[in-house]
Amino acid sequence: MWEFLPPRVRLRGAPDLGAPQSQRLAADYERFRDGLPRPLESYLLSAYDLDATSAYGGWRVKNPFGKASGQLSLAPHQAAKDAEAGLGFVVLKTVIAQDRLGAQTMREWAIPETRMLVERVRGRSGVEGWTVTWKGRGWFDTFEAYQELLKASLEIGKAAQMVVAPSVKYHLPTPQEDCWKEEEYTFTTSALVETWNSVLPQAPMPLEKDFSPTLAGSERATQQEQILEWLRRVPGLIHRAAPGKVRVGLKLFNALFEDDFQIRCLQEIGKPSRGEDRADFLVYANRLFDPEKEFEGKVGVAYGGPDLSDRNLAVLERLRTIAAGDERRPEALPLSATGDIHSGRIAAEYLLRGASSFQMHTLFQLPDSEFTMRAGGKTEKALHHLWFHPAEGFIAWVLHLRRRFGWSPQMNVEQMACWCCENWPAVSAALSDRVQSASQMFR
Ligand SMILES: Cc1cc2nc3c(=O)[nH]c(=O)nc-3n(C[C@H](O)[C@H](O)[C@H](O)COP(=O)(O)O)c2cc1C
Repeated sequence: MWEFLPPRVRLRGAPDLGAPQSQRLAADYERFRDGLPRPLESYLLSAYDLDATSAYGGWRVKNPFGKASGQLSLAPHQAAKDAEAGLGFVVLKTVIAQDRLGAQTMREWAIPETRMLVERVRGRSGVEGWTVTWKGRGWFDTFEAYQELLKASLEIGKAAQMVVAPSVKYHLPTPQEDCWKEEEYTFTTSALVETWNSVLPQAPMPLEKDFSPTLAGSERATQQEQILEWLRRVPGLIHRAAPGKVRVGLKLFNALFEDDFQIRCLQEIGKPSRGEDRADFLVYANRLFDPEKEFEGKVGVAYGGPDLSDRNLAVLERLRTIAAGDERRPEALPLSATGDIHSGRIAAEYLLRGASSFQMHTLFQLPDSEFTMRAGGKTEKALHHLWFHPAEGFIAWVLHLRRRFGWSPQMNVEQMACWCCENWPAVSAALSDRVQSASQMFR
């Protein structure tokens, strides 16, 4: 098991947004329990001077909150509910790539869906949270059915200004293999691009390449050099399958190795001189893997909760610290965060590390009793909590950070993320736990 090294930079205590804004937010939180204001983004702008627009996969998104790939984005009716609730983007369930004859090298991931268990979990820090345990993996229906899902979801998304992206698991060679099944890359990518362009002609398609946590437990991922080779080769294979038509996002997994290896992976992905072999954006990071935990007869399952956000935040802050000390300062890849985003406070902690969008899965599976909104579906309840919670919400923490760092109200969420990347030493100096506890001692 990897060593637990918690993040140093945290948003502690209560947000300080000034009395008038604080009172307004508390009133709004109560008022919107029966329904969010529409359009939400215009309300945020007029009430809080908060420009919610941001970026995901090279696209402008109306707000930074999205649904991560999984069981909650495998049917058009789910996309329709998300569009109605006001998500900024949705990533569809991962499809397993195939060649033109339908052969799939990663077919062991195309197994039917099984029961999901939403359960409480205690992190290594002692903090309690939630995790989902299950055995299922990728899309199990036909590839044609996936194309239909993509088309229907794109149409829904287009009408609601909600970006929709497919997610794919392509062939990855094992340590014993020395070739890549390039046809899987060519066939699957070009077919998805064709479907995408039937709804959005000319526009480049964002695509997430899913390196899932269950890979961590597979014999494919036992060697570090092998994993690094995947990261070097995959973006180029996808780009060349549809030149100029696809924006590749690598969704990284948490390997069973120590954090140093996660940093090596991130540095490999971020190398600036790689041309079309460089990814266009990064999704960080899919769930942890517990090789010993048993669920319904299967030993080894993925999990999330506080350990996931602790590990992701710790690795990202180390990455930013290393980059800040590098004179060449390679430009950071656009970052979409995933992993235990159960509050606006955690989203803001990812924002501080340069994330311009936030994608959730577990939050949308929590029981209704975890939310205070009375009306609406789960997505709307989650958005009410993420935006408006007076102590844990994104509005509260963005207003707090604006006061703290002197941000102009003209900055949108993407610009805040860029500012944090460029000014990481200032962020770290102001918000590291050591500094915060020292300043409390002198109060
Ligand atoms: C039930 C379940 C199914 C998932 N399926 C996929 C998937 O098909 N592809 C993928 O890239 N990630 C998948 N994930 C990972 C999520 O997209 C997400 O990145 C991860 O769970 C971390 O976010 P969370 O802590 O908000 O759940 C799945 C997660 C869960 C819980």
